[in-house]
Amino acid sequence: MSNHAPKRLHKKTERLIKETHTKKMNALQQQQHQLRGGSFSSSKQVRGTSRRASLVTKGVRAAAKNYKLTLLPGDGIGPEIMKVAVDVLHEVGRKHDIGFTFEEKLVGGAAIDAFGTPLPEDTLECCKQSDAVLLAAIGGYKWDTLEANMRPERGLLGLRAGMEVFANLRPAVVLPQLADASSLKKDIVSGTDIMVVRELTGGIYFGEPKGFGTNDKGERIGFNTMVYSESEVDRIAKVAFEIAQKRGGRLCSVEKSNVLEVSQLWKERVIKQHENYKDVELSHMYIDNCAMQVIRDPKQFDTIVTGNIFGDIISDAASMLTGSIGMLPSAAVGSSGPGLYEPVHGSAPDIAGQNKANPLAQVLSAAMLLRYQFGEEAAAKSIEEAVNATLDQGFRTGDIMQEGMKLVGCTEMQEALMKNLSK
Ligand code: IPM
Ligand code: MG
Repeated sequence: MSNHAPKRLHKKTERLIKETHTKKMNALQQQQHQLRGGSFSSSKQVRGTSRRASLVTKGVRAAAKNYKLTLLPGDGIGPEIMKVAVDVLHEVGRKHDIGFTFEEKLVGGAAIDAFGTPLPEDTLECCKQSDAVLLAAIGGYKWDTLEANMRPERGLLGLRAGMEVFANLRPAVVLPQLADASSLKKDIVSGTDIMVVRELTGGIYFGEPKGFGTNDKGERIGFNTMVYSESEVDRIAKVAFEIAQKRGGRLCSVEKSNVLEVSQLWKERVIKQHENYKDVELSHMYIDNCAMQVIRDPKQFDTIVTGNIFGDIISDAASMLTGSIGMLPSAAVGSSGPGLYEPVHGSAPDIAGQNKANPLAQVLSAAMLLRYQFGEEAAAKSIEEAVNATLDQGFRTGDIMQEGMKLVGCTEMQEALMKNLSK
């Protein structure tokens, strides 16, 4: 099993690289780009053979392949945008002869309400047993006053740790159609194509000891521990170097080594790993400077590698370059097994249930899932091209609305998307 780990990881990063390249192409010359024909020669495991047999006897044409996906709609706008992604997957499956078996499970606030815990065992088990997991978003005002251990966010963290998806890939690509939607000047953001590689299962999010206590003065204190081991830094650095290698060849490691010991170790190990990737140009930046540089001159960045909390912050900042966090998908992968695919944005409780949510990051997360987990390149591209076409036609949800465009809700955006997908 462990022999397969690096290979699998490499495959996933290869796909990732392909995708960022594709995005660039889509952005620059989307109109001319030809859809590659639907050849599915990859030797993927085929599930549901018996199901297929019975369908065939009933005279229903069954898909050549069947993937088992766990769906985690979660909270807030989660269920609305997940519905769009599922319909899109059905349509793309019909077009490309791919079958999906969906199993929906609860996580976050929805799971707290139903079972009193943000991550029921059954949910984690189902995720681990599936081929891939598609998550929408978790959290909301309703659960904000619960103690840290019982909050919806804890469900997401448990899921990431339980699935051992330590590498979080968060692309921030500025699409030409949306360059005006950014709060920054168009000439600053146009052409931006950054990949943030965020460590996802370590650092201060998971470090021990943590908790509450009392100090010498009898005052209450709260504390967390930011800790990274050599092997944790090595494996995320390796992923990041491999991604940088196939992108622009530049990797910026972001930390706070002028202050933090944990960052000194981080920097040392990244430099050590660099010995194996001499073709990549490595630079180092403090997180505070990086927060400034990402806004001042985003085009200076190609690939960024950073720890859990710095990655959380910098990926939100980078998302605003693209016009809206509502546009950004992400993938979390481990060395093997199912990955976790989710939009970068949260559950937006303020607009939940009002048909205002932008479903595109969720839909693009489904495309990422098809590409990285299953190598279904043509199907992933179909989705991305439908998203591009929908934007070209001027459809915009509130978060990416610009003058002269058509303001639509989540369902109208879905209708437009489905029309483009079935073309
Ligand atoms: C993210 C979110 C999560 C995180 C929260 C919801 C736990 O902000 O995915 O970026 O901090 O990782
Ligand atoms: Mg975040």
